[in-house]
Amino acid sequence: MSSEAEQRPTLIVGASGSLGTRLTTLLPGAVGSSRSGSPHEKMDITDPEQVSGVIGRLEPACVINTAAMTSVDGCERDPDAATRIHVDGTANLVSACESAGSRLIHLSTNYVFDGAEGPYAEEDSTHPLSVYGRTKLESEGIVHQGSCAGLVLRTAVFYGPEGERPNFVTWAIGELAQNKEIRVVTDEWANPTFVPDLAEAIHQLTAEGTEGVLHLAGPDYFTRYEMVMTCCDVLRLDRALVHPIQSADLGQDAARPPRAGLKTDAIRAIVGEVFRPFAENLQRLATDIGDVRTWATNRR
Ligand SMILES: NC(=O)c1ccc[n+]([C@@H]2O[C@H](COP(=O)([O-])OP(=O)(O)OC[C@H]3O[C@@H](n4cnc5c(N)ncnc54)[C@H](OP(=O)(O)O)[C@@H]3O)[C@@H](O)[C@H]2O)c1
Repeated sequence: MSSEAEQRPTLIVGASGSLGTRLTTLLPGAVGSSRSGSPHEKMDITDPEQVSGVIGRLEPACVINTAAMTSVDGCERDPDAATRIHVDGTANLVSACESAGSRLIHLSTNYVFDGAEGPYAEEDSTHPLSVYGRTKLESEGIVHQGSCAGLVLRTAVFYGPEGERPNFVTWAIGELAQNKEIRVVTDEWANPTFVPDLAEAIHQLTAEGTEGVLHLAGPDYFTRYEMVMTCCDVLRLDRALVHPIQSADLGQDAARPPRAGLKTDAIRAIVGEVFRPFAENLQRLATDIGDVRTWATNRR
């Protein structure tokens, strides 16, 4: 990396989100942006003037786009909003990165696949089942067609310390710690991905120039039910409170890919064993949480 590039910051777009928060803390000298602004740069990615203004002024060496409409059912109910954020927003970022000479690292999802026979490698054929998956796939195409250096990172089910937002794993732990019964699907597979491990892998990728598509996810391939059962074992929660169901029982607006998930050989060859096993990360999470019942009561 040239000394000029070293002096240019990395801009984390979506700095108020789960991954964005972690990246903004982890990357030295990173600048964050969010829709609401303070303490970050104010930037709504659907507003082309705000995007070109902020990126034009900062001239980041690298822009990492974590901003998204991550409610899969919300995207299904409001496809126009999903298109504005994923498609138009990404086009605005690509255009500003081209003008500023910035590299763009763009987050995407295993929901670009239909889940007929996952886990999937980078070169496997895509076939999204939902508005979320379709608009994210379209966003990938925009990054590839742009003339700035671009890297698409597909990832899967996040878990980790809560920060501002709960995730599937902390939701399940929180309910079970309060002795509440929960229903969890046995027919959706993916790789649970620890947000701190993901941020570390992305950190390493900012220091080298890979372009194209990479899959970044945890090493385990579990159903949601297996994830929750592992939480019960590690955090000593009552397995009997967990009721196995099929995804059709949930009546969700958006279809989910059943056997989704990602093959991760390519990223492991670049960053090594950054992604630790699910049970090991749950131990780290359990240490952070301390007494799980006190934690569950206080978070409400
Ligand atoms: N979470 C998962 O399990 C998962 C799985 C696979 C892939 N991914 C991908 O990984 C990335 C990060 O996910 P995450 O879970 O960290 O997301 P998240 O916690 O839901 O945060 C998303 C962020 O995007 C911001 N945002 C939404 N619309 C925006 C706009 N118009 N302009 C600027 N910012 C906007 C939100 O800001 P506000 O606070 O203003 O709403 C929020 O900070 C996304 O690309 C997602 O598709 C996530």
